Amino acid sequence: MTKIFTPAKIGKLKSKNRLVMAPMTRSRANPDGTPTQLAAEYYAQRAGLGLLIAEGTQPSAQGQGYIFTPGIYTDAHVEGWKQITSAVHDAGSHIFIQLMHVGRTSHPDNTPSHIQAVAPSAIAPKDQMFTLQGMKPIPEPRALTLEEIARTVDDFRNAARHAVDAGADGVEIHGANGYLIQQFFAPNANVRTDAYGGSIENRARFAIEVARAVAQEIGAERTGIRLSPGATLGGLEEGPEGPDLYRYLIGELNKLGLAYVHLLHLGNEALVADIRKGWSNALIVNRPGRAPQDVGVDITAGLADLESYGQFVLTTPDFAERLKSGAPMNPANKATFYGGGAEGYTDYPTLANAMAPAL
Ligand SMILES: Cc1cc2nc3c(=O)[nH]c(=O)nc-3n(C[C@H](O)[C@H](O)[C@H](O)COP(=O)(O)O)c2cc1C
Repeated sequence: MTKIFTPAKIGKLKSKNRLVMAPMTRSRANPDGTPTQLAAEYYAQRAGLGLLIAEGTQPSAQGQGYIFTPGIYTDAHVEGWKQITSAVHDAGSHIFIQLMHVGRTSHPDNTPSHIQAVAPSAIAPKDQMFTLQGMKPIPEPRALTLEEIARTVDDFRNAARHAVDAGADGVEIHGANGYLIQQFFAPNANVRTDAYGGSIENRARFAIEVARAVAQEIGAERTGIRLSPGATLGGLEEGPEGPDLYRYLIGELNKLGLAYVHLLHLGNEALVADIRKGWSNALIVNRPGRAPQDVGVDITAGLADLESYGQFVLTTPDFAERLKSGAPMNPANKATFYGGGAEGYTDYPTLANAMAPAL
């Protein structure tokens, strides 16, 4: 465990420890996607970790799927994010913004102009989604044209520029959890017959183009990517070629020299070991549901350079300090994960607060 409190290299940055806040959607931005001052307080509270990866953030209006998620493509968004990045820097940590284009995982009711979602192919995820009128079936998306694919790559580029203008240390491209980039990987969501469908190389093409464009725009050292090999969220099935697609993808991304790969480790040890071998820069590993006593295990084993944590960081602003002292984490209030205000967001106590005498 002690190794987690040593510095790590992330691009040109040096993090003070090897603990990373995993990106978590909290659905508390203004309806136009501008994040609020409350978000600045929330992230700054968690600056005991070496790197904060901010919640999924749409790179364009078309990329939005859920209500009240932040954007990073207008001047107002940039102004909102400036409050967050400066609060995190003042509190002594670093922040990357996760660029999340949801693709088909979207409901028109949740987007500013009620637009139909886009995806590699016109195949609905057979899933439901929360809207202000309750749960609704996700409608069929339309397939992106080749011209629109190029424009979407540019949207990521533009969003990355806006993120850096807002003071972010970098961006994390969301290639995981069933959203647009992973939709291209999965043969049951991508039945294209052009250069973006069919072979492994073709299905990985969009991810590589996005990574290349973002790295060209803001520098590879400020570009990370999140991947979740084998994830079936949003109804995706990567099929028997899935692991080989990731092996190929890692090789191509490695040539770009990105700052990090952030892996959702869902149990395929052989594949993750191959990814470690094929990846030269920082590897951040997230094992969903990992217990506090197992924090640091992947770092000690030489698999990960850093480890990320979601729920514990959400509930426990002083996560790093509590790990040091062996104190328990705060229990989660799942009812306040998404939406609302300060409750369940900025009011989780630190140990120091909890032990302060009541006045
Ligand atoms: C409330 C909540 C929101 C999440 N939103 C995102 C997101 O926006 N982007 C993402 O890549 N993962 C998201 N995740 C997944 C987390 O980043 C993480 O992978 C997951 O919670 C497992 O790690 P943990 O067991 O440490 O929480 C979310 C998880 C939670 C609990």
